[in-house]
Amino acid sequence: MTTPTWAPPAAPPEALVAGELRLDRWRPGDRDDLYAAVDTSRAHLEPFLPWVAGYEPASTEWFLNQAHEGWEMRREFNYRVSGPAVAPGRVLAGVGLMARQGPGELEIGYWVHAAAVGRGIARAAAAALTDAAFALPGVECVRIHHDPRNVASGRIPARLGYRRLPDLVPGPPGREDERHVAWVVWKDEWAPVRG
Ligand SMILES: CC(C)(COP(=O)(O)OP(=O)(O)OC[C@H]1O[C@@H](n2cnc3c(N)ncnc32)[C@H](O)[C@@H]1OP(=O)(O)O)[C@@H](O)C(=O)NCCC(=O)NCCS
Repeated sequence: MTTPTWAPPAAPPEALVAGELRLDRWRPGDRDDLYAAVDTSRAHLEPFLPWVAGYEPASTEWFLNQAHEGWEMRREFNYRVSGPAVAPGRVLAGVGLMARQGPGELEIGYWVHAAAVGRGIARAAAAALTDAAFALPGVECVRIHHDPRNVASGRIPARLGYRRLPDLVPGPPGREDERHVAWVVWKDEWAPVRG
C-alpha cells in the first residue's frame, strides 16, 4: 500500500444503500464470506486482479487488517456489497474509495462475485460511492482506472457519465509499468445515470 499525499478530512458513512444493495464497511466477521466469494470467483477475477493469484485464507486476514487500518488512517474506504440479487447476506462484491491520486481526488475500485455479474451491481455501487465521495469535504474529483482490455470495467464509468481522459495513465501501485484508461467526474458535473 502506498502512502497517499492527501486524505479527506472525514471518512464516508460505514453503511451505504444503493437500491436493493447494501454497502457495509468490512468487519473481521466477514472473513469466511469474503474468502468464499473470492475463492469461487478466481477464474473470473484473476485476469484483471493479480492479487487473486495465490489467494488463501491468510490473504483474507491480511486484507481485512489493511482495510481496517486504511479506514482509520483515511487512506481507503473498503466495503462489502450484499443484497438479495444472488444470496442474501453473502458477499456479492467488494468495492472501495482510495485516496491515492492526490489532493481532492478519490479513486473507485470494484470486483463482483462471478455468480453476480451483469446485474448492474458494480454500476450501482460505483454510483453510491461517487455520491459518498462528493459528500466529503474537499473531494472535487472521482476517478476510475482500468486495464484497456477490461471492457466490462470501462462500461461502469461510461454509463455513469464519467469522462474518459484522452491519455492513458500508469497502472496501480505495483503495476506502474502498465498503461490504464482513466475516467474522471468532477463534483459540479456529477449527475449519474442510474437506470
Ligand atoms: C468489471 C466488473 C466489476 C463489472 O461488474 P458488473 O456488476 O458485472 O457490472 P455491471 O453489471 O454494472 O455492468 C457491466 C457492463 O459491462 C458489460 N459487459 C460485461 N461483460 C462484457 C464483456 N465481456 N465485453 C464487453 N462488455 C461487457 C455489460 O453489458 C455492462 O454494460 P452495460 O451496462 O452497458 O450493458 C466485473 O466484471 C468484475 O468483477 N470483473 C473482474 C474484476 C475487475 O475487472 N475489476 C475491475 C478492475 S479495474
